[in-house]
Amino acid sequence: MRVPFNVPAVVGEEYNYIQDTIKRRKISGDNYYTKLCHELIESKYKAQKALLTTSCTHALELSALLCDIKPNDEVIMPSYTFVSTANAFALRGAKIVFVDIRPDTQNIDENLIEQAINRKTKAIVPVHYAGVACEMNRIIQLADNYRLSVVEDAAQGVNAYYNGLTLGTIGDFGCYSFHETKNYTMGEGGALLIRSEKDNIRSEIFREKGTNRAEFQLGMVDKYSWVSEGSSYLPSDINSAYLYAQLQKADEINNTRLKIWSKYYSLLEDLQNKEKLQLPFVPENCQHNAHMFYVKARSSEERNSLIDYLKVKGITAPFHYIPLHTSTQGRKCGEFFGVDKYTTDTSQKLLRLPLYFDLTDEQVDYVCEQIYDFYKDR
Ligand SMILES: Cc1ncc(COP(=O)(O)O)c(C=O)c1O
Repeated sequence: MRVPFNVPAVVGEEYNYIQDTIKRRKISGDNYYTKLCHELIESKYKAQKALLTTSCTHALELSALLCDIKPNDEVIMPSYTFVSTANAFALRGAKIVFVDIRPDTQNIDENLIEQAINRKTKAIVPVHYAGVACEMNRIIQLADNYRLSVVEDAAQGVNAYYNGLTLGTIGDFGCYSFHETKNYTMGEGGALLIRSEKDNIRSEIFREKGTNRAEFQLGMVDKYSWVSEGSSYLPSDINSAYLYAQLQKADEINNTRLKIWSKYYSLLEDLQNKEKLQLPFVPENCQHNAHMFYVKARSSEERNSLIDYLKVKGITAPFHYIPLHTSTQGRKCGEFFGVDKYTTDTSQKLLRLPLYFDLTDEQVDYVCEQIYDFYKDR
């Protein structure tokens, strides 16, 4: 049996909507399907405003512009994350201050953030790993006390909740990914969520190449022109058409993923009880979206052997992030604050199991059987 790591979901109307957008002869950004996606995200996830972008990377870059990040400002985030979380702020000249993660959720440790704050600190960027929320109450409280912006990297957190609030709507800005590897996709794409109305016009200007085109389209100005910094962050309506079909079926996709996640959990729980593996932890106030099912092995060597063992059995189960503070660019534009107790350790012990909409029960059984075989004599 072959079990790939990810297969993007196709849930019904994708082809029809793409054909429709072609027939409409309006395939550039902010047309019919892009607007439908905005409305759906705003109403379903209770976002004050949503703007589709060409990627989560670009939503993060927009956030850095909106937070007015300047050279020598400092931005706090975990090191156990994707490069784009840091790159977006480093591009504006910020110094990245990496803080250690918690060993249970692999999210930034909310209790280590305050020590890393100083006069230069401008923003905190929590990353909701695996669609499980960071401890946002504490993070928002710190941001309020020290007047900092909060940008949620919710690349993996679409349709997930913290105390009933949608991830991406809690901080000043939220960034979603609709890359092929995410729960809902448009191939490449993302969204920026904006909490306060005061940032709406600036967001549209930055996203529209630094022009006030959005105001022009609303009849608020006679002609549009270059009014600020900016770039082109709008996806084509063809991509948005694909996404709209997926967002309409978001709960169906979510429920299927959650069932697979729970099946993995119950099948592998015995290995956790025997302290051979660590399974994901979801705090009670978090409703996750089954973006990922990861396990943590007891050592780096054991993790690597397990990856190799599964590969021979036809199963792709990759490791994840290499800590950013250990990378060439991470060393240039940032530094780790305090002790790296769990970041490198997690990076060395964690592997991700296949999880996608079309994954069958038989495939999940097969993956778990192979993991049990691996641990038989260990
Ligand atoms: C935490 C995190 N942030 C940002 C990104 C970038 O997303 P995109 O590929 O949509 O730019 C990813 C991609 O996997 C991610 O995992």
